[in-house]
Amino acid sequence: MNQAERLNRAMIREIEKLGDIGPWHDALLAVPRHLFIPNLAYVSPDDDESYIIDRSANPEKWLRSAYMDVAIITQINDGECSIMDAGKDGVRFTSSASAPSTVIAFLSLLGASKGHNVLEIGTGTGWTAALLSAVVGDHKVTSIEIDEEIGNRAAQNLRSAGYAPHLVTGDGAEGVPGKAPFDRIHVTCGIDEIPPQWIDQTKRGGILVAPYRRELVSLVVHEDGEATVKHYGRARFMMLRSPKDETPKRAAI
Ligand SMILES: C[S@@+](CC[C@H](N)C(=O)[O-])C[C@H]1O[C@@H](n2cnc3c(N)ncnc32)[C@H](O)[C@@H]1O
Repeated sequence: MNQAERLNRAMIREIEKLGDIGPWHDALLAVPRHLFIPNLAYVSPDDDESYIIDRSANPEKWLRSAYMDVAIITQINDGECSIMDAGKDGVRFTSSASAPSTVIAFLSLLGASKGHNVLEIGTGTGWTAALLSAVVGDHKVTSIEIDEEIGNRAAQNLRSAGYAPHLVTGDGAEGVPGKAPFDRIHVTCGIDEIPPQWIDQTKRGGILVAPYRRELVSLVVHEDGEATVKHYGRARFMMLRSPKDETPKRAAI
């Protein structure tokens, strides 16, 4: 067993202390997180000092950090400045690899299983899309990312891990109507409102999970299109972004 496998197994053991993770155990084994972490990134623990990881300067620290249960910031200020500035005042985190235990909490609530048609909103590094692909099959996974560069990097990461889900660049608030209806929709950026398109694109009886108003929520969509919402406690996530070309869109209305 190599060092990455050892670290991955230790991370899985820690996550399993929080409860049974069902099919996500094998998915975590199949999808090494370090394949999704850029060479330069910013580790942002909830309760500790944040720090830069640089694979070329300290490959050991970079690898260990990839298997810690922490969010790793991969883009700041929409990519308009270097990740090296991540610790400065006023910086906005705009893309990340979410903390593994949080990802697994969301995926466990999602209850996706083999053959389900699944939409992920917010591809980020592609790690969640790969975990979903390992469980439901990559031909059944669609993932949408608003930032083209982030989406392209995710495609490379996914290829290196051996998965090829359907990736879309665009505003996830619109959903992906061409691939609907979905059995499951997994939103990986914070939202204050649920766009009606997501409910329309969810099968009756289908489930949507999201960080909604800073809480982890799941929605079950009923036959009449109404949804039941359940709350599962605090979830801190970067917010859904609006497309940069919002002005022309408004002018077209
Ligand atoms: C917390 S990260 C996602 C983590 C990701 N699921 C992973 O496994 O690495 C949130 C992502 O949502 C993306 N995002 C924000 N607003 C969006 C929108 N309107 N449509 C699609 N993606 C969006 C961000 O660019 C960012 O990459």
